[in-house]
Amino acid sequence: MKFFIDTANLAQIKEANDLGILDGVTTNPTLMAKEGIKGHDAIMQHYKTICEMVDGPVSAEVFGTEFAGIVEEGKKLAAIHKNIVVKVPMIKDGIKAIKWFTDNGIPTNCTLVFSAGQAILAAKAGATYVSPFIGRIDDSSWDGVQVIEQIVSIYNAQGFMTEVLAASIRSPLHIVRCAEAGADICTCPLSSILGLLKHPLTDLGLQQFLSDAKSMQ
Ligand code: G3P
Repeated sequence: MKFFIDTANLAQIKEANDLGILDGVTTNPTLMAKEGIKGHDAIMQHYKTICEMVDGPVSAEVFGTEFAGIVEEGKKLAAIHKNIVVKVPMIKDGIKAIKWFTDNGIPTNCTLVFSAGQAILAAKAGATYVSPFIGRIDDSSWDGVQVIEQIVSIYNAQGFMTEVLAASIRSPLHIVRCAEAGADICTCPLSSILGLLKHPLTDLGLQQFLSDAKSMQ
């Protein structure tokens, strides 16, 4: 399973990248706004900076909701860097635009996906990635990981090439369960990635080893 980081924060991207386990980055308008980025040029420059930091796909989301506007925005985003993936919402014009991008060799990430039906449509349009938001599904008292399992099983049965990118990850347990469910990618906040490191027996064991090592010096 590939690891993407779900942030537009450059320090956090650097920290995850320095671990050597980072395969890509996803952003969305909320994450970009959180960094205080304002205006077209600043937005474009920020995506460029991220692409220069991480050697892997970087999802940049369109702001438009109509076919022509999505295509125009997507072409501009794709021109920033070869690793840009155009992130498009799961709406009627979004699906139409994803098909256009597919036909024109531009990779896409279909976002705001909450059901297997939506994931089938994204795959039919040729999306490179589909992003089911598992944390938000859990928030509405459904099981987000079950939706991942269902999409993975449908894609395998049908031979769809779209990669399942589990998004809206809220905990290390989400990452473990998505790996078990066969997700191709997890896009996670830095805290969830670092949470995978934690186990009290590791801390206790290390303490003992360090103290025994010291006694031998
Ligand atoms: O990539 C989409 C994801 O960032 C949404 O996460 O935590 O806002 O539901 P969240």
